[in-house]
Amino acid sequence: MVKMWTARRWMWNRLATLKFAGAKVVDIPVPGGDEAVVRGVPLSTRFPRIGINEILVADRIPTDEHDLRAQRFYSVMERLFRIFGPNAPGLPSVDADRGAALDRAYTEAHRALFPAPEFPDEFRDPDLGLLATTSPYAHYVTATGPDTYEWDLRSLAEYDVHPGLVRLGVHVSFVQDGDRLRAVEIDSALGTVTPEDADWDRSVGLALCAATTHTSLVRHYNWVHLVPGAAFSIATRSALPAAHPLKRLLWPHVFRTQFSNWVTTVGQLSAGGDFEEIFSFTRESLLRLFNDTCRDFDAIVVDPQRDAEKRGIVGRGLDVPVLDNSLAHHDVMRAHAERYLRAYYPDDAALAADVDVQRWYAELDRLIPGGAGVLGDARTVESASRLIGSLIHLVAYQHEAYGTLLWNYQLWTQVEPIRVRTDGAPEPVDVYQRMVNADFGLNIRRSPMMQDFSYLALDGRGRAAFRAFLSDLLALQTRMEAEPQALYKVYPEMLEANMNG
Ligand SMILES: [Fe+2]
Repeated sequence: MVKMWTARRWMWNRLATLKFAGAKVVDIPVPGGDEAVVRGVPLSTRFPRIGINEILVADRIPTDEHDLRAQRFYSVMERLFRIFGPNAPGLPSVDADRGAALDRAYTEAHRALFPAPEFPDEFRDPDLGLLATTSPYAHYVTATGPDTYEWDLRSLAEYDVHPGLVRLGVHVSFVQDGDRLRAVEIDSALGTVTPEDADWDRSVGLALCAATTHTSLVRHYNWVHLVPGAAFSIATRSALPAAHPLKRLLWPHVFRTQFSNWVTTVGQLSAGGDFEEIFSFTRESLLRLFNDTCRDFDAIVVDPQRDAEKRGIVGRGLDVPVLDNSLAHHDVMRAHAERYLRAYYPDDAALAADVDVQRWYAELDRLIPGGAGVLGDARTVESASRLIGSLIHLVAYQHEAYGTLLWNYQLWTQVEPIRVRTDGAPEPVDVYQRMVNADFGLNIRRSPMMQDFSYLALDGRGRAAFRAFLSDLLALQTRMEAEPQALYKVYPEMLEANMNG
């Protein structure tokens, strides 16, 4: 069994490194290459073997996004999953020393392309209270009373897991101690435990496993790529002509979404794909999770400020560095949207009278489950700026924060297991190797946010606004470099213009 897996491992490592080495940063062209309408259709009509009916995806890949080589590569990969996939049954557990495990799984060929992950300071003596506000999972913390908080991931208990794994539904209770949180109780399939209990550390691991699983599957893939990200892109493609100023503002943040969502859906949600082979859920449960979390989607998560207010964590003297980091980027993106819109619309009436803008908003509102209204509308410049700033934040900042940023977290499975086994053993070597390659792939370079997009502008007004945005991002980068560095922080120079390869 091990010998057979060694051949599979060699081949899939080779594919991962070839893909990384061969990836080219895509230059974003001026819009107009394919002006035909793109419609939203149920995912299962585009991918008949993936039973997800609730989520709408584009009915076609526009010709200006086509990358036939990549599309063929993914079609072959989908077949390979079934006949020579990267996983094999009955393999031993990964080395208890994850440094050694990583040395083995992250080969010289990988390292020649991208440095190995770093170990977060907050993982040295893992304290769930600190991680609740100071890790990529900080977006779960919600107030329940004047000085009490929770992580509520109980809904994950409804989804079946692979044999031999612990179910993922977890509830963590926190109390506020000065400007920090202290975890006081964890309720899960492992029982209800407090920090004095022998099972506390294992329950902390299960809580982090639930958080990282939800972040990768729901927050990143469903709630950035598939649900609001695709709606943003389809509406922008279909409702705005190429020479419209709003199309030019949004274009760098939506171009290639249809192509990219097509290939990543094949790679991750196909039978034998990354999601079901890495994370805990069975295939049936995984597909149900995607359907359910599309139906339950609340667009407020796209606006980090309103989302934090709704979670009740603002203005309570709590140290929230991840939220501060997110809002610093959101401010710059909203200011950019507002500056740009004011350059083209002297007042709210002018914006409200633009039929293309109104059609764009109506399409976005129709495509987002539950509507876009909670994010803003297109009746006033201020409201539209808030909406657009949040959409840019979604595809650039949130895509990074819930995706690539996990590189330095997800592979330290002694702290944050990727699966929790009932027998207490670590995950098998093939699951760990697959996680390494999947996360390695997230680091493939995409078109950077910090570039001069003024070539997309229709005239001097747009050019000035694009340049002012770049200069604001540079100023934020400089400001952040003067502050203490941390792995949980996203920096403007890490941002990509959009979520697409
Ligand atoms: Fe992504």
